[in-house]
Amino acid sequence: MDISKYSDALVDHLEQKVTLKEPASLYQPIKYILTLGGKRLRPVLTLMSADFFGGEYKEALDASLAVEMFHNFSLVHDDIMDNAPLRRGNKTVHEKWDVNTGILSGDAMLILAYQLFETYTPEVFMQLAVLFSKTALEVCEGQQYDVDFETRNDVTIPEYIKMIEFKTAVLIGASLQMGAIIANASESCKEKIYAFGKNLGIAFQLQDDYLDAFGNPLTFGKQVGGDIMANKKTFLYLTALRKSTDAQAKTLTSLFSTSPSDPLKKVAAVKEIFIETGAAKATEKEILRYTNASISLLDDIKISKAHKETLKSFADFLMNRNV
Ligand code: IPE
Ligand code: IPE
Ligand code: MG
Ligand code: MG
Ligand code: MG
Repeated sequence: MDISKYSDALVDHLEQKVTLKEPASLYQPIKYILTLGGKRLRPVLTLMSADFFGGEYKEALDASLAVEMFHNFSLVHDDIMDNAPLRRGNKTVHEKWDVNTGILSGDAMLILAYQLFETYTPEVFMQLAVLFSKTALEVCEGQQYDVDFETRNDVTIPEYIKMIEFKTAVLIGASLQMGAIIANASESCKEKIYAFGKNLGIAFQLQDDYLDAFGNPLTFGKQVGGDIMANKKTFLYLTALRKSTDAQAKTLTSLFSTSPSDPLKKVAAVKEIFIETGAAKATEKEILRYTNASISLLDDIKISKAHKETLKSFADFLMNRNV
């Protein structure tokens, strides 16, 4: 699958549009986080979607950069909230600079993201802005649930799914829908491509949670075990609780009600329970289930068979990633 056409175009565009200005202490962190890379899957989805629905993908470059800008804003603030030291194999913005820098550079990125829509015609601008505002608010809601769940011990699996739908999946749906808006696709296609992205996004966050526990620290690029240290109520955790013996459940809840002095010991003990209870396997199955659900939604979207194949390979590639 060759998606380099889209990612190369995005990187070119980013280099043109994201320039260093004064005060450097505001713009340097922005440039830093955006040029650390990452998978750039959301802007690539925007460009592919515009292309596949018969539009000119270059017209979607500003929207695709807006999506990536917003995503990076959310990461800078998320890393403050999650107390994360590492991002994409490098220091997080608040570690490299400080928390105030992370807050303000993040705010500026959110505004820069909206500004990128200004190049579209009023009609397209309106549609993009409506979708973007709705999505951005949902991301905030999802992020708040995520934080609230850290100190709750009665979180259910449906609540968890709703939380990840909001914090992660809606942005992936919106990335694809923006491409469809720019290509002037039908209302039904816009809805269907959004639904594809949302299901893919749920699979994507399940996988992110899985890798947070079981990823290879040498290649993952983020602190492995961070979710366990922060008592995140992930599918792994909730499923482990559901499948555990009384003794395992007691250990797990007790480990998740404190911040022990030796966090690595806690991470190791929790991972063992995730494996022993079958929660790790169950999570892998759930990732596959949501990925397949997303792929089956491609059936009645009006794009060519070859383009459907490309989106399917993209979904498969995401499911098999280790970063
Ligand atoms: C990380 O997103 C945050 C989540 C929603 C899981 P990515 O895994 O897409 O991060 P990058 O952009 O590739 O670094
Ligand atoms: C982040 O979820 C979702 C958003 C940034 C909105 P995570 O907290 O799991 O993302 P990572 O693992 O830090 O990338
Ligand atoms: Mg988080
Ligand atoms: Mg995080
Ligand atoms: Mg994560």
